[in-house]
Amino acid sequence: MNKQAVVGFLGLGSIGVANFFWGKSSTPSGPADSGFPNGLSIPPPDKNRNGGVPTSQVKNGKGFVSDQSDLVRPADFFKYGFPGPIHDLQTREEFVACYNRVTRNPYYVVEHITPGSLSKNGANGDRKNSVFKEDEQIPAKFRARLRDYFRSGYDRGHQAPAADAKFSQKAMDETFYLTNMSPQVGEGFNRDYWAHLEDFARRLAQNYRSVRIVTGPLFLPKKDPIDGKFRVTYEVIGNPPNVAVPTHFFKLIVAESPVQNPTSDALAVAAFVLPNDVISNDTKLTAFEVPLEALEISSGLEFLSKVPANKKKSLCKEVKCEIIVRDFKQISNGKKELLALPPPPSN
Ligand SMILES: *[C@@H]1O[C@H](CO)[C@@H](O)[C@H](O)[C@H]1NC(C)=O
Repeated sequence: MNKQAVVGFLGLGSIGVANFFWGKSSTPSGPADSGFPNGLSIPPPDKNRNGGVPTSQVKNGKGFVSDQSDLVRPADFFKYGFPGPIHDLQTREEFVACYNRVTRNPYYVVEHITPGSLSKNGANGDRKNSVFKEDEQIPAKFRARLRDYFRSGYDRGHQAPAADAKFSQKAMDETFYLTNMSPQVGEGFNRDYWAHLEDFARRLAQNYRSVRIVTGPLFLPKKDPIDGKFRVTYEVIGNPPNVAVPTHFFKLIVAESPVQNPTSDALAVAAFVLPNDVISNDTKLTAFEVPLEALEISSGLEFLSKVPANKKKSLCKEVKCEIIVRDFKQISNGKKELLALPPPPSN
């Protein structure tokens, strides 16, 4: 079954997927009803935290014991080595990547772009000089490998795009580490709509002096139309299987210091969730916008938790959130120029 067929089978077109999961307009139920695993259900605190259970409560199968050698000390296991989980944080020139050893994808990649960092003056990074490479800082058994992607049918999809790191060849080269990569549908997504979204984020540097972008994969549950249960299903590429193929990707955009009001400390924020699938060019970008909290619930990550609510503005009310469809091959040949970002709405 091809991708389109899978989506069709589940009754969710590309457009409908984000809306479906967040019940944006049509579903009255909140996140708890819409099939999200409740990431907040933490077991109540252990009453016997301080090293062991009182001896009077320890059972050895025959009754209570008072022998000190029978004390229950679960945390002593860690003296043999702490199992983790570990998240590998890689700090590069243009981005910081946080890697997930289970999915062999990043959890997220945080970027920073500015008008200066994107300026053509002095930009000497050229992707023709860069090669995809495995990240040897990740232990071999947890590493995403080039051969996992080979003939998988998926692109090695940059999370921090190469085009955001043209200011130096080193910065550009670093975007080619597999710790900055996730398997992405190529034609119709990574090379099309997703690239247009990346371009939208770059164009924001015309309106803001500083733009921060967080990008990452999602593995979202889908409702099975036959038994009505929610399941997370995803392909794993490689032989033996190694790298998980995300069902969706998110991009959180945080724009600082608007050109028209550079001293403002308010942030312009927008979060988008897109299916890892062919998306038609005429789908509006705003169809993929989701509340920040919905992104947090589905990713297990917390964003902007130190920013007061009155300092978070909606980006899509300050600028027009829309993609510009054009052929990226033509751009690299210099045949088409970047178009200006549409002006903010007047009211
Ligand atoms: C979107 O438009 C571009 C440029 O015309 C084209 O190459 C691409 O195939 C289109 N994408 C889809 C999904 O139709």
